[in-house]
Amino acid sequence: MTHSKVAIVTGAARGIGAAVARGLAGDGFAVALFDLDEAGVKEGAAAITADSGKAIGLSVDVSDTDRVETAVAQVAEELGAPTVLVNNAGITRDNLLFKMTDGDWDSVIGVHLRGSFVMSRAVQKHMTEQKWGRIVNLSSTSALGNRGQANYSAAKAGLQGFTKTLAIELGKFGVTVNAIAPGFIATEMTAATAERIGVSFEDFKAGAAAAIPVGRVGQPEDIAHLVSFFVSEGASFISGQVVYAAGGPTD
Ligand SMILES: NC(=O)c1ccc[n+]([C@@H]2O[C@H](COP(=O)([O-])OP(=O)(O)OC[C@H]3O[C@@H](n4cnc5c(N)ncnc54)[C@H](O)[C@@H]3O)[C@@H](O)[C@H]2O)c1
Repeated sequence: MTHSKVAIVTGAARGIGAAVARGLAGDGFAVALFDLDEAGVKEGAAAITADSGKAIGLSVDVSDTDRVETAVAQVAEELGAPTVLVNNAGITRDNLLFKMTDGDWDSVIGVHLRGSFVMSRAVQKHMTEQKWGRIVNLSSTSALGNRGQANYSAAKAGLQGFTKTLAIELGKFGVTVNAIAPGFIATEMTAATAERIGVSFEDFKAGAAAAIPVGRVGQPEDIAHLVSFFVSEGASFISGQVVYAAGGPTD
């Protein structure tokens, strides 16, 4: 049986998610872009459609179970059964532990961990019915520990355990589950960090690049390329893995 080629990318209005959505459209997938930013995903979907692809953009908060369920059902109805899910939506609420609020903790865990759980649970039935699927979760080098990011590093390390467990549970249905842990990628997320610490984005990127073995910061397309590999037919024997994409080794 051939499977449907339909992908859902969360947090797809900009940055890494937008590049992943474009990349998957280029690989021949119909793509549903999910984000809080409705104008952003509608624009991204229109650009893919103008480029001869097939895409829709939906306003979805990935941590809202009811909204996720209805949006995934809409994708199945309009594009076909989703067989690829990229859990990319993310936020940061950085603070040193003694200043970190309950809200900082709950919102970060809510988007990354609860959001990936709710999305994966909603989409898995389509993948198991199709006997084919690919889930890719966005972790981070911060999973290894990063000052000011107790919430974010816990969420990103949690996603690695989540990835391995789903790989064990879903493997027999032809579904692989992997995680990508990027280092520094130039997006609005890293631009916001530069602004918060009072450094220009150009200086912030130059400082980061000096410490990266390949001598540059990452671009969203670096991650999109790896997603394309993980979702390819040829990657069916690779599951439960975490690949660090950081321009060099990590500890
Ligand atoms: N930029 C980096 O250096 C870097 C490094 C490692 C990991 N990551 C991870 O990669 C992913 C994408 O990061 P980015 O740099 O493109 O970030 P970004 O801030 O540019 O984009 C994130 C997108 O997620 C959306 N989003 C946030 N909360 C959401 C929610 N509840 N529901 C739906 N959408 C929501 C935002 O609206 C935004 O469009 C994140 O999971 C991030 O943690 C980024």
